[in-house]
Amino acid sequence: MILEVQEVHSYYGKSHIVQGISIAVDEGELVTLLGRNGAGKTTTLKTIVGVVPPRQGNILFMGNNVAGWPPYRIATLGVCLVPEGRGIFKLLSVEENLKMAARKDSPWQLTDIYAMFPRLKERRKNSGAQLSGGEQQMLAIGRALTTNPKLLLLDEPVEGLSPVLVSEIVAQLKRIKGSGMPIILVEQNLQVCTQLADRHYIIEQGLIVYEATNSDFLADHEVKNRYLGVNVRQ
Ligand SMILES: Nc1ncnc2c1ncn2[C@@H]1O[C@H](COP(=O)(O)OP(=O)(O)OP(=O)(O)O)[C@@H](O)[C@H]1O
Ligand SMILES: [Mg+2]
Repeated sequence: MILEVQEVHSYYGKSHIVQGISIAVDEGELVTLLGRNGAGKTTTLKTIVGVVPPRQGNILFMGNNVAGWPPYRIATLGVCLVPEGRGIFKLLSVEENLKMAARKDSPWQLTDIYAMFPRLKERRKNSGAQLSGGEQQMLAIGRALTTNPKLLLLDEPVEGLSPVLVSEIVAQLKRIKGSGMPIILVEQNLQVCTQLADRHYIIEQGLIVYEATNSDFLADHEVKNRYLGVNVRQ
């Protein structure tokens, strides 16, 4: 296992949000973290990267128990969160955004990112603020790749995007996964999740309540109604 989260608890002040979560990600595996709004998906990702420090439990990443480590140290090991708001620098150009955290040892260099997302190349001189939502998402993913990540955490990467852009980003996520990158994906779009994932976890009120392989999840029509409030007939 590349990552093992073992009975982790985390809080915002006195609010107990993550209430004993255990999840694991194997080499080259893409797992999703599904659940309703407010279930604790984003907080779980923030806990893994150390932005919200866990108060209990272990977070084993490539043999290190990183629970309690500061975020910069966890990032140095290659755990990279692409956050919900995308976290790009609005005042910097596309190219500056891509260069600022880039590492020479990354298999993804500037030219690779431009090949992956030609739109970013066209817009390389534009500032982050001038990008559409889809372009911002491409930039956030591209920038993450230049840091030579060993585990990618993606928080709602296609939220609010048009179907064309969703397919474009899904196609690139497939390529990234195909390169062997382990990924945790938080996403509301179930079609996107089932196209990409090896396994799924469902989180409810800060606890994992369901775990299944992608094929078992697809065959289980009940689960989507029970935990996700999705009408499967749609
Ligand atoms: N900075 C914060 N301070 C206090 N409470 C917070 C903070 N961020 C989130 N929460 C609360 O923690 C709970 C879990 O939030 P979280 O953002 O992890 O949910 P989520 O599953 O990612 O939801 P969504 O699908 O809406 O993104 C919610 O009740 C939320 O209101
Ligand atoms: Mg969230």
